[in-house]
Amino acid sequence: MDEGLMKTYARADEVFVSGHGAVLQDSTGREFLDFLAGIAVSALGHGHAALTEALRDQVGKVVHLSNLFRHPYTERVATRLCQLTDMGAAFFTNSGTEAIECALKLARKAMQMRGTPERTSFVALEGGFHGRSLGALSLTWSEKYRKPFQPLQKVTWVPPEDVGALKAALAADQPAALVLEPVQGEGGIRELSTSYLQQARALCTATGTLLVHDEIQSGCGRTGRFLAAQHAGVVPDVVTLAKPIAAGLPMGACLTTTALADTFAKGEHGSTFAGGPLVCRAALVFLDEIDRGLLGNVMERGQQLREGLEALQREFKIVREVRGRGLMLGLRLHHSAEAVQKALYKNGLIVNCTATDVLRIVPPFVITAANVQAGLQRLRTTLAAFPGSAQETP
Ligand SMILES: Cc1ncc(COP(=O)(O)O)c(C=O)c1O
Repeated sequence: MDEGLMKTYARADEVFVSGHGAVLQDSTGREFLDFLAGIAVSALGHGHAALTEALRDQVGKVVHLSNLFRHPYTERVATRLCQLTDMGAAFFTNSGTEAIECALKLARKAMQMRGTPERTSFVALEGGFHGRSLGALSLTWSEKYRKPFQPLQKVTWVPPEDVGALKAALAADQPAALVLEPVQGEGGIRELSTSYLQQARALCTATGTLLVHDEIQSGCGRTGRFLAAQHAGVVPDVVTLAKPIAAGLPMGACLTTTALADTFAKGEHGSTFAGGPLVCRAALVFLDEIDRGLLGNVMERGQQLREGLEALQREFKIVREVRGRGLMLGLRLHHSAEAVQKALYKNGLIVNCTATDVLRIVPPFVITAANVQAGLQRLRTTLAAFPGSAQETP
């Protein structure tokens, strides 16, 4: 097992070979309901016909060019993303982490251009996760991830929803940027309130701090709007996207406002692979599906799922809370979620644990009503098998 690999992952034993929609099949032919979508990635599910067709077509034409040359698709994806996010320009990356790196560099460069080059630090939120490169890792809250790699970039963390602490940190540190996830993913599917997001925006504007929204997990429609912060009517200075953006192919983007669009000079940032023809074709298929109303399904299935999870909360006392919005949901238990997650897996439902006590439910956007019903049934059967799980009747 894992021969020749660095031991960074605890991997399940199954070998998955194919899939259709929100269903995955392993090498023995057994089917699993996929409520994880490769950690909030495979928005169009598995075996999507239009995606398959577009990729086949593009592979036969040109796969890679580098950013030294043009192809017909990068600008189309960038323009559509800017429209959907109220931003002015995009830089493409191969991952979420790289999108964060781009945002951090952009914030520092913007401070230099404004004549405040001493503003190099960052403020971030407790519970936040932004990636694992040295820059992105600096902002990531969990000490377990950071400790072996110190010293890292200077960051001050503030507790979510504490406006006073945020105000004090911005005043004391004079950072280049505040970086936050409108819905914390790895932090346990924790939504920031509309009021907090709006006050964070106002404080950043008042102190000349750039507001970076990390929507790598919450963005691209997962909560039912293209950006989670759009529910609160907040527009940041920079937004990072990745995960579902190219329906499973590795792609990320750092978008910024028209005012900051020219922050990088030529050569100050770059990537060999990013924004290539193949990933851009995939992104266009995803964006076309959004234009055809895919987020309507996210809202409806999200509502169906939430209602089902709330019914489970009423039925089983080990369920503490239902969190999240759209198809970014968490079922918080009263104890570690790991054993339940493993049992779910045995019962043919794929989810994972986040923040130790939360089952993360982030299925493909194309999930059907029947898939949701079947998944809820598997959750119910699994929870019922846990000792002491049933609610006492009053
Ligand atoms: C909010 C957030 N930011 C950044 C990242 C890092 O993205 P990637 O793993 O694509 O580098 C993740 C990944 O889970 C994430 O959820």
